[in-house]
Amino acid sequence: MKDILDRLEKRREEARLGGGTSRIEAQHKRGKLTARERIELMLDKGSFEEFDMFVEHRSNEFGMEKSKIPGDGVVTGWGTVNGRAVYLFSKDFTVFGGSLSETHAQKIIKVQDMAMKARCPIIGLFDAGGARIQEGVAALGGYGEVFKRNVVASGVIPQISVIMGPCAGGDVYSPAMTDFIFMVRDTSYMFVTGPDVVKTVTNEVVTAEELGGASVHTTKSGVSDGAFENDVECLLQMRRLIDFLPSNNESGVPEWPAYDEPDRIDESLDTLVPDNPNKPYDIKELILKVADEGDFFELSAAYAKNIMTGFGRVAGRTVGFVANQPMVLAGVLDSDASRKAARFVRFCDAFGIPIVTFVDVPGFLPGTDQEYGGLIKHGAKLLFAYSQCTVPLVTVITRKAFGGAYDVMASKHVGGDLNYAWPTAQIAVMGAKGAVEIIFRTDIGDKDKIAARTKEYEDRFLSPFVAAERGYIDDVIMPHSTRRRIARALAMLKNKHVEMPARKHDNLPL
Ligand code: HXC
Repeated sequence: MKDILDRLEKRREEARLGGGTSRIEAQHKRGKLTARERIELMLDKGSFEEFDMFVEHRSNEFGMEKSKIPGDGVVTGWGTVNGRAVYLFSKDFTVFGGSLSETHAQKIIKVQDMAMKARCPIIGLFDAGGARIQEGVAALGGYGEVFKRNVVASGVIPQISVIMGPCAGGDVYSPAMTDFIFMVRDTSYMFVTGPDVVKTVTNEVVTAEELGGASVHTTKSGVSDGAFENDVECLLQMRRLIDFLPSNNESGVPEWPAYDEPDRIDESLDTLVPDNPNKPYDIKELILKVADEGDFFELSAAYAKNIMTGFGRVAGRTVGFVANQPMVLAGVLDSDASRKAARFVRFCDAFGIPIVTFVDVPGFLPGTDQEYGGLIKHGAKLLFAYSQCTVPLVTVITRKAFGGAYDVMASKHVGGDLNYAWPTAQIAVMGAKGAVEIIFRTDIGDKDKIAARTKEYEDRFLSPFVAAERGYIDDVIMPHSTRRRIARALAMLKNKHVEMPARKHDNLPL
């Protein structure tokens, strides 16, 4: 018996070594942890249960039958994060560059199917070069099966992709179909085809970082929702993210003990909005002062900075915050900001997370650059996303809510449940200058007349009261009581139930 046990332990040891000590050393030298070390950090201590550690590939092409490594380049299983079950797979770059073979795909498919059955989140830790080239179409078939499951699981269980090394081909397409993509700075890259192929096909010489580093995907392309300094920080932040997320679309948001009174008053908010309407202020301050313990997990912080999105909690329950940021481009809505916020709003709605929206928006960004880039369709995505929501929507207009952007930003008209305004709110078709120049065009040469008209417009329209008189705003509230009013609203809306008409699916303006 002892022999049998020893043999099992020996086989396990062999599998745990993956591609071997020299490749593990090379991995460490690059500043990266191994697939198993990452799992240790991601999950609660001792909670990991591994599947399929003895699976090997079945390829006989290009001499592959001579190099079989137990586990075949991916470590799969389940465990817990602060006591809540999650499934995960972690690509092992030390084994054929983490590339995906037919059997490697089957291991991932198994945990995808089990995560769906158990209705638990699934996390992929990627460090892999795509389809295993030696396997050809068998690997492509494997990817197809993974992709299909990504789509079937979308909106049912949260799917998180963490890019922790050079990733290409299927190892970027599968993440692209999940809910969130995070990267590690300076060691992770995402591209459909790597720099060598780019050079061969287009003659373009580009480094991996320039083509698909975190610096590109968190700022220019918006593909990634955030980046962290190293593997350790990244995985600890992923644990923090999981704490905000529901296990599935029917579980409701997680509830954690809160030590921050829901009716906490914050007097400093009464002076947050400057007297000069053209002066910026940091909307993040409002989010931090409303969220429990100022704990805010921001998404896409370096992309489309004119809008902020992220998770926080109110009275211990997760909420999604969306806020125009007056510090960047005066908080205007452009194509990137609209897409960023639309995707976030849809995630929240799919998973039953209430949305709190802070509005200070001068409108949509005018100009050929935006129009040629399809602002109409991109802006429509955000309008569509809010209009489609059945989760509680609480909106607070802090200052400007101009034009179509007023409608878009979770207004009463598109489904806002409770719409509040601060006394500093200005709800109108546009700002005074633009309005007067259009409706009193003939007076433009007369400075005094224009000044009088502007004052008249400001007095009548640049306040929350025209909207409040119509019931478009439920109440004009004191800034210092914002957290209390939001907490009460969310508590009241906890069992909100609305139904949309039956249909196969909607036709979001993609
Ligand atoms: C088999 C692979 C591999 C792959 C890497 N390796 N990618 N083996 N299939 N796809 C192996 C290497 O041969 C090497 O083995 C080891 O992994 C480490 O790779 P290096 O190239 O030494 O590492 P690095 O310089 O860091 O470069 C990493 C890389 C690069 C950027 C990922 O390896 C690369 O460009 N790989 C090919 C990427 C690719 O084109 N994949 C196919 C995509 S098509 P040794 O034994 O020498 O250490 C695809 C289709 C899916 O995925 C469908 C999409 C819709």
